[in-house]
Amino acid sequence: MKAVGSASTRGVSRRIKGVLAGGVGGGRVGLGRLPLLVREYSNGEKSLKERFAEVFPSKAEEIKQFKKQHGKVAIGQVLLEQAYGGMRGIPGIVWEGSVLDPHEGIRFRGRTIAEIQQELPKAADGQEPLPEALFWLLLTGEVPTETQAKALSADLMSRSELPEHVIRLLDGLPKDLHPMAQFSIAVTALESESKFAKAYAQGVAKKDYWNYTFEDSLDLLGKLPVIASKIYRNVFKDGKIGAVDPNADYGKNLGHLLGFQNKEFVDLMRLYLSVHSDHEGGNVSAHTTHLVGSALSSPYLSFAAGMNGLAGPLHGRANQEVLEWLFKLREEVKGDYSKETIEAYLWNTLKSGRVIPGYGHAVLRKTDPRYTAQREFALRHFPDYDLFKLVSAVYEVAPGVLQQHGKTKNPWPNVDSHSGVLLQYYGLTEGSFYTVLFGVSRAFGVLPQLIIDRAVGTAIERPKSFSTEKFKELVAKITATSS
Ligand SMILES: CC(C)(COP(=O)(O)OP(=O)(O)OC[C@H]1O[C@@H](n2cnc3c(N)ncnc32)[C@H](O)[C@@H]1OP(=O)(O)O)[C@@H](O)C(=O)NCCC(=O)NCCS
Repeated sequence: MKAVGSASTRGVSRRIKGVLAGGVGGGRVGLGRLPLLVREYSNGEKSLKERFAEVFPSKAEEIKQFKKQHGKVAIGQVLLEQAYGGMRGIPGIVWEGSVLDPHEGIRFRGRTIAEIQQELPKAADGQEPLPEALFWLLLTGEVPTETQAKALSADLMSRSELPEHVIRLLDGLPKDLHPMAQFSIAVTALESESKFAKAYAQGVAKKDYWNYTFEDSLDLLGKLPVIASKIYRNVFKDGKIGAVDPNADYGKNLGHLLGFQNKEFVDLMRLYLSVHSDHEGGNVSAHTTHLVGSALSSPYLSFAAGMNGLAGPLHGRANQEVLEWLFKLREEVKGDYSKETIEAYLWNTLKSGRVIPGYGHAVLRKTDPRYTAQREFALRHFPDYDLFKLVSAVYEVAPGVLQQHGKTKNPWPNVDSHSGVLLQYYGLTEGSFYTVLFGVSRAFGVLPQLIIDRAVGTAIERPKSFSTEKFKELVAKITATSS
């Protein structure tokens, strides 16, 4: 039986020549000599792996020297309330791809969302950045050329085939099992394909860990559109998906596999995958992937763990919650989007002890630029869509209500406040699937860090915990010495 998502790789092999030195192909692994896997492109430009191999030794040396020179500098102070408050604000994770400023929002390798929209290569038929180009940027700090981005698209799509046991597993899952649980199960089952796990079992040297982590990460990225689409088609449609197009970019393949041919929807996929990818390292999905990866679990197991965190309603699942909340609001107000009516609905939600989904953020203290990028997309493509008007009406009122309510540190909308509306417009209406799309996107942000972690030899995570009793003793000791 032919595996789902199997690409006709003829187009790919024309572009990628002399594939892998040492006999490890894009499919099954034979790790006889543990070779350095290098893909060369016939266009003469360097591949992502070659560029990373050139860039990271000096970065690793820079980190080594930095630690040596300044390792004893105190970079912060920890308050007891932070230990009880989800470790908010404690600087304790190294994350190279992006940094989040509370007021300015995210910067990917120093670039704002508006800048990546301008600078990154785009598909010939689109206006939005290619997420595979963002992956390149996050991993190396460099913007790829159009040719390099295109070659990376082809490389990823050549890795899209799913093993039969994963297809059977997905086909056998109950339709009412949440799509995120299905997503996590499928990614975990891909552990059977892990080149890192096999190389590790054969005693590969630490300096080569990154090489197999890189291969697993690209294999996983290539398979995610097929997994996501298989789940979507199994749960909500006829269970059938088309074939991967080896000559199309990642966003187009994802859109088409899901069953959407609309060009604007495809461009939305590119934007969606780019803006949801990375939001520095402390959020639940990024931190979990990083934490589990620090135990040298494979990219499959590390990413699946991160996805279990993304499935939580306070994190990625908020995009589903937003939509459910908006639908109830629409039903209740019956076309009356006046300030007073929406304000009353917001207060009802708050008074019933619930949060306003899509508002607030652990770090941000202004409107999330990811929200703004999606709002601008809606303004460009469907300014008169009723649900978009409702989202805009809530945006006018909610920050004021939340400020008056007085609890939330950030009364402004976050990314999840807008994403569902865009998908609704193009007919992807099944809200319980939305977090899976977020998950596909998150892979573009967390996998580069996993590769970097292996390249620089990041330590296993092991922060210190105390019981409340021990914290009391600690506090008593500190207050006694300071008084
Ligand atoms: C994102 C979120 C989890 C951040 O949590 P946080 O860092 O603890 O946020 P804050 O420090 O501002 O929380 C302080 C208080 O305000 C409340 N609060 C925060 N956001 C709120 C919101 N959108 N509506 C109502 N209350 C909110 C918190 O529940 C908390 O109340 P408590 O003291 O009774 O526990 C939180 O804002 C939230 O639950 N938002 C709604 C869900 C959402 O949109 N998640 C997606 C995030 S990208």
